[in-house]
Amino acid sequence: MGKAVPERVLTNKDLEALVDTSDEWITTRTGIKQRYIADPDTAASDLGYLAAVQALANAQVRADDIDLLIVATTTPDMPFPATACIIQERLNAKNAAAFDVAAACSGFMYGIEIGRAMLAAGYQKVLVVGVDVISRLIDYEDRSTCVLFGDGAGAAVLGSVEPGFGFIASEIGADGSGAMLLHVPAGGSRIPAQAKSLEAKQHYVKMCGREVYKFAVQIICDSTERVLRKAGVAVDTIRWFVPHQANVRIIEAAAQRLQIAADRIYVNVDRYGNTSAASVPIALAELAQAGLVEDGDLVLMVGFGAGLTWGSALLRWGGFER
Ligand code: UT7
Repeated sequence: MGKAVPERVLTNKDLEALVDTSDEWITTRTGIKQRYIADPDTAASDLGYLAAVQALANAQVRADDIDLLIVATTTPDMPFPATACIIQERLNAKNAAAFDVAAACSGFMYGIEIGRAMLAAGYQKVLVVGVDVISRLIDYEDRSTCVLFGDGAGAAVLGSVEPGFGFIASEIGADGSGAMLLHVPAGGSRIPAQAKSLEAKQHYVKMCGREVYKFAVQIICDSTERVLRKAGVAVDTIRWFVPHQANVRIIEAAAQRLQIAADRIYVNVDRYGNTSAASVPIALAELAQAGLVEDGDLVLMVGFGAGLTWGSALLRWGGFER
């Protein structure tokens, strides 16, 4: 695992100076205290590259051993080429096929599901990067969204592991009927960039917060239960529950319904805010780097986001081949 965030920290206090909000409102409604914001020169590939370098070093894998590079992002450097190709060139991962996945905050979960399937199909080492410079899509005059998001990247190297370790069960899913609950209206082929769209602020995130909240709690529970059932694993055997970090209230509400004890839930939304596709891999990278996850531990990751999309994966940590 690897991770990278920009240097600049934006605190709740800083936001108080930008919009009509308060540290108290943000903390009690979301659990967020600060988030990292990229400087104007930093694009998704810059953060994704740094996370990828760290993941390769931690996995002791050389860039030219990667045969597939998947980048999950909704904030690519540019419409094309894929940000994966830009990162591939910087890594000199010359043996890797490279493409992007657009599944918003669930992007990393989609990426590892595809990576797993490609390993089963014969690929050897798959690098999955989840990265978003989501601040580029945020209107810092809109208090309902600007307090929630932060920039960052996380990366994972997938490869074969010893028997008894690795992925046990997983799923990805989508419900396009909720597509407009969380979207950026302009910048694509429907409404290309133009003076009118800029003026109407159509290049920024629009979100129906309440509806997304309800969907999030429900899908975390449903998807987790399906994956546990598929694996034949009881919820109390999970050592680490690693949900998408959007709002601590969403995490707590879902954990309560699922009856997951607080000491088994990894939460870092207070420090990063919602980093979209980077959220789950940053959390997993922190767990690994802090030595909090041990060989044999069961780890359950759950992502959800725009689309609407979701994805869950249960794995037994460890058994890495060096
Ligand atoms: O990756 C997936 C991405 N998105 C999410 O997961 C977001 C899911 N939704 C949420 O986390 C929550 O719905 C929010 C944190 C976005 C909002 O919390 P809420 O408890 O659902 O609040 P609300 O939208 O119902 O707003 C309550 C009040 C409103 O005022 P009135 O109408 O009651 O007077 C808002 O205008 O809070 C107001 N409000 C704020 N006040 C201070 C909204 N944003 C702010 C703010 N500061 N930043």
